[in-house]
Amino acid sequence: MFTFLTAGESHGRCLTAVIENFPAGVEVAAADVDRDLARRQMGYGRGDRMKIERDACEIFSGVRERKTLGSPISFVVWNRDWVNWEKVMNPEDNDPEQAAGKRITNPRPGHADLSGALKYGHTADVRNVLERASARETAARVGVGAFARALLRHFGISVCSHVIALGEVEAPAWSPESGTGLSRISELADRSQVRCLDKEAESRMIGRIERAKEEKDTLGGVFEVVVGGVPPGLGSYTNWDRRLDARLVRALVSIPAVKGAEVGPAFDNAHKPGSHVHDEIFLRRAGEPMSGHPGPFYRKTNRAGGTEGGMSNGEPIILRAAKKPIPTLMKPLWTVDLSTGEPVQASTERSDVCSLPAASVVGEAVVAIEIARAFLESFGGSNLLDIDANYRHYLKRISGGHER
Ligand SMILES: Cc1cc2nc3c(=O)[nH]c(=O)nc-3n(C[C@H](O)[C@H](O)[C@H](O)COP(=O)(O)O)c2cc1C
Repeated sequence: MFTFLTAGESHGRCLTAVIENFPAGVEVAAADVDRDLARRQMGYGRGDRMKIERDACEIFSGVRERKTLGSPISFVVWNRDWVNWEKVMNPEDNDPEQAAGKRITNPRPGHADLSGALKYGHTADVRNVLERASARETAARVGVGAFARALLRHFGISVCSHVIALGEVEAPAWSPESGTGLSRISELADRSQVRCLDKEAESRMIGRIERAKEEKDTLGGVFEVVVGGVPPGLGSYTNWDRRLDARLVRALVSIPAVKGAEVGPAFDNAHKPGSHVHDEIFLRRAGEPMSGHPGPFYRKTNRAGGTEGGMSNGEPIILRAAKKPIPTLMKPLWTVDLSTGEPVQASTERSDVCSLPAASVVGEAVVAIEIARAFLESFGGSNLLDIDANYRHYLKRISGGHER
């Protein structure tokens, strides 16, 4: 099983990731990782921290001549801001005056501050919590996601995302009938400051962020992740923890501030009769053009969002994630000072007004990781060539002996 661990504090020296059990022979360069790191940093509404950081990864192990070796992969993303925090966040000695100046005892409602301080005994300085609870950690996960993507790319599987609601402003969800091909979602979203495919909604979203900034408030919203080229049968119905849909939702809700996720239009479907929800099955006739996915069967609709019975069904996987507004408010909410017990205003460290476009890129990464894991469970091997052979064999079998 391909696994990974990330480490690093928001204002520490760097973020680190170690990836284990990743197959040999996958082509990946630091530039591939950097491209996704840069995409995570973009987006209207980010705070000044993103002006300081120019995230880039330095690969330390597990890759040689731009190909994975099968040995543990490790990389770091250096924090440029470290120079400003060296005397506060040092693992050895800090400057007592500077460290005291950065001490926090007024936990923010909506953040990990209070529960984390109670759990780990950090009530004297909540910084010990927020440094790791910060979503800066997601830079490392986006790095891991780039490796997963490199594997998936070899098999024609792509993962993209876009924003479909920001505050109360809504934009249409994606569907094959929307006129935008799946392959163009990324290109268009990457060009938008809020990763929105709809130009009119985009300008209203930007206006809404401006207003929130003036009002010293913050915003959340909904992003959609679409996975194309997935074969039927990733995941499994045989045990609860192998269900692909459950794993994808878990991955999305693991992103800080994402509080809900659905597969396809799940909440809409809940209000409709079955005849308006389930996707009828058709056999592709010989000579008919293949749609984006492998396999002999297809649907004319995709209201299931690409999974049935905890497995991919060959249609694009469509996921939506709801992100709450950022907890750090420049017009702070009330809280309790942990050193005095007195009511005080919550801390206000430099912060984003809206990080939804960034969260959407993180969403791509965590979904790519989970799809890659499910793919390796089904077709795994230590070398890409073996995985390739297994996958071809599978495609041949499910096509009744006719290779694509
Ligand atoms: C990409 C990204 C950037 C974020 N930036 C901030 C930020 O600048 N300030 C902040 O208070 N929260 C930010 N958050 C949200 C917090 O990290 C999150 O609300 C906090 O860790 C508490 O976890 P929870 O919301 O999942 O309960 C960000 C989240 C993401 C995904």
